[in-house]
Amino acid sequence: MKLSPFDHLPTTRLIFGNGSLSQLGQLTKELGGKRALIVSDPGIMKAGYVEKAVSWFREVDVAAEVYGEVQENPSTDDVTRCVEVARAFRADILIGLGGGSSMDTAKGCNFILTNGGRMQDYWGTGKAKKDMLPLIAIPTTAGTGSECQSYALISDAETHVKMACGDPKAAAKVAILDPELTLSQPRRVTVCTGIDALSHAIETAVTSKRNSWSSLFSRESFLLLEKGFERVLHQADDLEARGMMLLGAAYAGMAIENSMLGAAHSCANPLTAKFNVVHGEAVGVMLPHIIRFNRQLPEIQAIYQTYFSGDLADRVSELLQAAEMPQKIRMYGVKESDLPELAAMASKQWTAQFNPRSLTPSDFVDLYRAAF
Ligand SMILES: [Fe+2]
Repeated sequence: MKLSPFDHLPTTRLIFGNGSLSQLGQLTKELGGKRALIVSDPGIMKAGYVEKAVSWFREVDVAAEVYGEVQENPSTDDVTRCVEVARAFRADILIGLGGGSSMDTAKGCNFILTNGGRMQDYWGTGKAKKDMLPLIAIPTTAGTGSECQSYALISDAETHVKMACGDPKAAAKVAILDPELTLSQPRRVTVCTGIDALSHAIETAVTSKRNSWSSLFSRESFLLLEKGFERVLHQADDLEARGMMLLGAAYAGMAIENSMLGAAHSCANPLTAKFNVVHGEAVGVMLPHIIRFNRQLPEIQAIYQTYFSGDLADRVSELLQAAEMPQKIRMYGVKESDLPELAAMASKQWTAQFNPRSLTPSDFVDLYRAAF
């Protein structure tokens, strides 16, 4: 095993446990917050979690305001609207409560609020010069792992390009992982976010950027998700399994922070951009084929075997089947004549460079054809 050098400063305090949302007021006070802006989406508002959060603030005399309009795949427009509310309220702490979109919008808002300019100025890493407001991240899905990352994924409202804007200062000060908050997810959200998280565990395990630290989290994440996924499919209110999924997704997020992602994500993004395939489905449909491609390298096959004693690609297909997820891209309207264009787009994705086996555009065509 080769040991790559790394330099990792943990940025986020992790609190895990059923009912841990009740610590929100106290944690906010500890961070010096007196005026909290809760950033969330309409579904989470409806589920009553925002109201619950506000009630915890009331108990400790922290003033609260809500921006509850976050949309899926948030854009620069979402961030602008959130900033307006945060400015008017004079927020001194931000709470991202919801899925990856809510947490990312809160992070994006934090950049503009504290450092000025526009989102495009922070595309890349470490471009914020001034201090940022403390952020508490509270995921209600077990998916992106954004609560453990210093990056916000924000689309340019005009060009629709997804920008990864990251800075160590943007990472949440605290992430509250309360499995009870994930019980209300519709089944489809559980499925799509769960497969996305599983793909994060499997991709981070083998990228060219992986190191000993990220591998710890990739492995534990995989163990939790592989066992938890079928359980939450069979029984949506299995709270222990919900905890496994939530923790697994957060650990995968920690792994991404060091290890980045690989070719399954490179292939998925064009399917989302051109055919509106939901991210988790797009990654899932490609993942078994990426595993088969990567395991041609003996070193990578050896890693996969430490994760799963049988055939890992078949195991992923089995989970997709259990989730009733389409396993062919033609089921999403892709035509065979679309494959070269998809491949050209995939080879330009930034995650492609971290895949353990390098890929040519024709390798991408072969991968899409295998999934066709
Ligand atoms: Fe993903």
